[in-house]
Amino acid sequence: MKLLEDRILKDGHALNESILKVDTFINHQVDPFLMQECAKDFAEHFKGRGITKIATIESSGIAPALLTSIEMGLPLVILKKQPSKVLNDNLYNTMVSSFTKGTNYELTLSKKVVDENDHVLIIDDFLANGEASSGAIRLFRMAHATVEGVGILIEKEFQPGRKKLGEEGIEVYSLARISSMSEGNIVFNS
Ligand code: G4P
Repeated sequence: MKLLEDRILKDGHALNESILKVDTFINHQVDPFLMQECAKDFAEHFKGRGITKIATIESSGIAPALLTSIEMGLPLVILKKQPSKVLNDNLYNTMVSSFTKGTNYELTLSKKVVDENDHVLIIDDFLANGEASSGAIRLFRMAHATVEGVGILIEKEFQPGRKKLGEEGIEVYSLARISSMSEGNIVFNS
């Protein structure tokens, strides 16, 4: 998506070969109008698939996911991160390892908001190693729901996220695909 790529080139900053800072329009401050255009693109791509719910992982996925849920007229499910294992009969939970941040956390899904009739579209800001999306897919599969696909704002193609999700039979649709980065330099696959 040219609009997002142009914004990444204008306001994003590649810290090194693997980390892209997009603090001023996605992570620490959100450009709602850019997110709305991204949401329209996701809605157009995934229309006609019988999707019943949009889902995301707190916190940076919430803005694009909420706008996608408005665009598609569907509820938004938020998967919550917990620092340690929570014993709660009302939650599905799974452990996620973040390679970027070097942390582990428990990802949870409320049993009240999903069932086997649901067809879910997962929206998130970054696809890096695919651990967060893969954890989200595990949770929806625990609920016997169907994951119809994953929509991503920024995919780092040089990391294994797409391959990992592909092996799980999941379609990934990304609006900006970065094939390589170095300090101050970003190359898109488009
Ligand atoms: P994965 O989910 O694809 O496996 O990625 P990983 O665990 O490596 O990423 C962990 C966190 O770091 C995620 O945010 C992800 O969005 C973010 N991240 C990954 N690569 C980049 C990057 O190049 N730039 C930025 N800005 N973020 C990146 P999170 O921990 O879920 O945080 P948040 O959603 O609360 O912001």
